[in-house]
Amino acid sequence: MTDKLAELERQCARRIAELAGLKELEQLRLDMLGKKGELTTLLKSLGSASPEERPALGRLVNSARENIEKMLEAAKAGIQTRETADRLSAERIDVTKPGKAPQFGAKHPMTTVLDSLKDIFVGMGYSIAEGPEIETPYYNFDSLNISATHPARSEQDTFYFANGDSLRTSTSPMQVHIMEAGQLPVRAICPGRVYRRDEVDATHAPVFHQLEGIVVDKGVTMGDLKGTLELFAKELFGSGTKVRFRPHYFPFTEPSAEMDVSCFVCGGQGCRVCKHEGFIEILGCGMIHPRVLEMSGIDPVVYSGFAFGMGLERISMQRFGISDLRLLHENDVRFLKQF
Ligand code: DAH
Repeated sequence: MTDKLAELERQCARRIAELAGLKELEQLRLDMLGKKGELTTLLKSLGSASPEERPALGRLVNSARENIEKMLEAAKAGIQTRETADRLSAERIDVTKPGKAPQFGAKHPMTTVLDSLKDIFVGMGYSIAEGPEIETPYYNFDSLNISATHPARSEQDTFYFANGDSLRTSTSPMQVHIMEAGQLPVRAICPGRVYRRDEVDATHAPVFHQLEGIVVDKGVTMGDLKGTLELFAKELFGSGTKVRFRPHYFPFTEPSAEMDVSCFVCGGQGCRVCKHEGFIEILGCGMIHPRVLEMSGIDPVVYSGFAFGMGLERISMQRFGISDLRLLHENDVRFLKQF
């Protein structure tokens, strides 16, 4: 018995030397002292010893148990100290190291342009309104004098919902929402996202941004439209900018025009950027069609108004000399950092 106990203590000491952590230590404790452990098995075998021998043997087993318990106790303390030391060294912070500078972003070129547009128009007394990106066919088309068979409907094919509603194809439905609200006179700009079923290329994307403008008051004329938009162009592109209005057709304005600005690269001489035209088209505009006023509950005999709509991507590309619209949407910081 003495031999067996001594061997058990040696075995325990050997396993302690190889312990990896507290989990293995617990396993060792169970192997030694647990209900089915080695020592318990030895203790049980005392049953076969003679009554005279038993007390002495019992004392031996108990003293071995105490030794083993002390060894396990000491091993536990050792492992805990080691683990604490390991953690402290792993989590150590060198406060003398140079800091990591945070990465600063910059305003997106379109945000910069939108901010200037807001400044320019708010400076002229306009308010800023935003509205829904999902519209009924009435708001997206009919209320803008685009009838069911009008070709503009197929040109502005978009994304539809099962109930016939669609993502708006322009910010022009905002004209109608504003007029229906009935707070006249009104001067407002409405920036926002618009959607068309367009393939992605250097000048097209299925999601892009427009800014709509609307003015309704008594006695508003085409002269007001021209003066306002010329001032806007000079503010945004520089005081030397020249503008040109070309007659055009939009179903919801009459008369309608497109406004060009003198090329920001060549100043009107003609170059590659303006395709040797000297001018670049930047927006559509016109006097709000009397029928559109009427449908929105405004008497066209008393009131008149003008509207304009521009693509923010296109304006930003012109303003910053960006040649591919996709760059504006990819959000590559290497590109965006240049502005
Ligand atoms: N809605 C037109 C488009 O998406 C742009 C436009 C043209 C808006 C003329 C207007 C306007 O307000 O008067 O192409």
